[in-house]
Amino acid sequence: MLSAETKSIIKATVPVLEEHGTAITTVFYKNMFEAHPELLNIFNHANQAKGRQQAALANTVYAAAVHIDNLEAILPAVVQIANKHVSLGIKPEHYPIVGEYLLKAIKEVLGDAATDDIINAWAEAYGVIADAFIGVEKDMYEKVESQENGWKFFKDFIVARKEKESGNITSFYLKPAEGSNVPAYQPGQYISVRMSIPGEKYTMIRQYSLSQASKEDEFRISVKREADNDPNGRVSVYLHEEVNVGDRLEVSAPAGEFVLDTEKKSPVAFVSGGVGITPMMSMFETVATMTPERPTAFLHAARNESFHAFDQDIRKYTASMDNATYKTLYSDEPSGYITRELLAEYVDVSGEVYVCGPVPFMEAMIQELRALGMNEDQIHFEFFGPAVALQTV
Ligand code: HEM
Repeated sequence: MLSAETKSIIKATVPVLEEHGTAITTVFYKNMFEAHPELLNIFNHANQAKGRQQAALANTVYAAAVHIDNLEAILPAVVQIANKHVSLGIKPEHYPIVGEYLLKAIKEVLGDAATDDIINAWAEAYGVIADAFIGVEKDMYEKVESQENGWKFFKDFIVARKEKESGNITSFYLKPAEGSNVPAYQPGQYISVRMSIPGEKYTMIRQYSLSQASKEDEFRISVKREADNDPNGRVSVYLHEEVNVGDRLEVSAPAGEFVLDTEKKSPVAFVSGGVGITPMMSMFETVATMTPERPTAFLHAARNESFHAFDQDIRKYTASMDNATYKTLYSDEPSGYITRELLAEYVDVSGEVYVCGPVPFMEAMIQELRALGMNEDQIHFEFFGPAVALQTV
């Protein structure tokens, strides 16, 4: 337990750290990677280049510090991040490294203002926060490992099939190299793929949603090819251009909390933009095969016909269900947006809605769904990548 004095120092200094948040974490990452370049095998260099991950870590440490008396209050956020950490293979021994360089960065940026009392208080608080993460992650690792066909960290998979879904989305069917089956997963979960790309000094890890309902012998991911000059595109371009049937990839066990509640019988709607369609495919296929009587709507926004993935699959499932509707809009066309009116027509506001897509799309959809009277418990969403940029209020 932290002493009352430590807690009051933490609370008094949160605004100061917030003010210098990005400066502190920028210094932190720079120094940490200089001392521990091996961590560049884990961190996403594109996020680093854009400064996104810096803000994510800073915001979370402050949010945790504000709630230091009652970390339970931020447990949902901890669980979401812990899922990401577990998917990436973060270990308890990584935490002291992050703690050391975070404290050094606070000292460097604040200078004399960072007294010993302040630094000691933050060292203690970081310890409490890190222990909370380590504890949650330990439970998650145990769970994935003890599951039938489960494993911890990364395992070799082989590309069994590669199929083009649209102008920029290609599916990869992945099977364990050792010939075993895969664990059952919840629709909406994702895996991490780790790759050594020729010419790159460090391995690269990316998360991809599983894009089909749980199958016993394979995973499917559906990857959007990013632009050649986008640093975030390095992995997707390599996958599209260079990875073929028979190639090996390292894969981590399914993780993630943005999942379909398969127990519910209430109406459900899936609203996706662009490649945000991938977790929806897994959820929709699951409803279509497990509870085809469940009233279901599938709304999708794509740029145009050539970027429209999975159209035939969705049509096929919709036709086989008792009460399912499907509509796609093309944003290249004048009236090609999902409006409040369209949502009102398709989404039963007494049920559940799952939203996935680019940040502005999700912000707009969530706002409209709230305006239609849906509450937070009914609207489920997940933005892929650091969750900081999302403004939904
Ligand atoms: C992602 C917070 C410790 C490595 C994240 C995210 C947050 C976060 C908010 C973004 C989550 C998302 O994308 O949805 C924290 C906090 C920590 C901590 C508060 C300490 C208490 C660590 C440690 C490591 C680590 C010890 C490993 C050295 C990563 C990586 C990502 C990530 C690699 C993915 C983003 C990227 O690749 O840039 N963390 N983290 N984190 N974290 Fe942590």
